[in-house]
Amino acid sequence: MICKSALAKDIDHVLVSAEELDGIVTAIAGEIDRDYGECGGSLLLLGILKGSVVFMADLMKKLTIPVEIDFMKVSSYGKSTESSGRINIILDLQRSDLSSRDIIIVEDIIDSGRTLSYLTEYLKINGARSVKTCTLLDKPSRREVDFVPDYRGREIPDEFVVGYGLDYAEKYRALPFVGVLKEEIYAK
Ligand code: IMP
Ligand code: MG
Repeated sequence: MICKSALAKDIDHVLVSAEELDGIVTAIAGEIDRDYGECGGSLLLLGILKGSVVFMADLMKKLTIPVEIDFMKVSSYGKSTESSGRINIILDLQRSDLSSRDIIIVEDIIDSGRTLSYLTEYLKINGARSVKTCTLLDKPSRREVDFVPDYRGREIPDEFVVGYGLDYAEKYRALPFVGVLKEEIYAK
């Protein structure tokens, strides 16, 4: 049986510890509570599968205002660590109430910026009342399109990271911290 500690040995070093993650999520929840306190229950947290699930679960638990959740699934990455640059919607929203919804798109990480800029436009075109974006991590040095998230946990350098929802080839999502993957793992 492969246990989690076996996966942890593929990590070069921890970049964001579980304790730091907890502090980051608490701070973002506080900002959202403040900004959406008056919105009367119209807030919809829209998680982008699969990378956002751990962040999303922790974030919604820390919010004190009423919130609904939903998910979309998109793909821009294949098996490698490089984005293909094309966004495909794999699972779309199945709801007819977007015109009365204030949406916050919840992402694990922004890299080129293509996913979030595409989804923001897509939701606006489909009639959402408002659309903001929230990302746990941001690699601004990798940006290919101009995009600034409304809520951002932490900037990180241009390194491929896993854990706390983020994967490489579907592995490492359940690690409780964000770590830099050893290069030999994806250079194989
Ligand atoms: P973007 O469209 O290039 O901004 O890509 C964002 C998506 O790429 C994220 O939702 C992640 O799924 C993936 N991604 C980007 N950088 C990393 C990383 O370092 N580790 C794991 N996934 C990443
Ligand atoms: Mg993702």
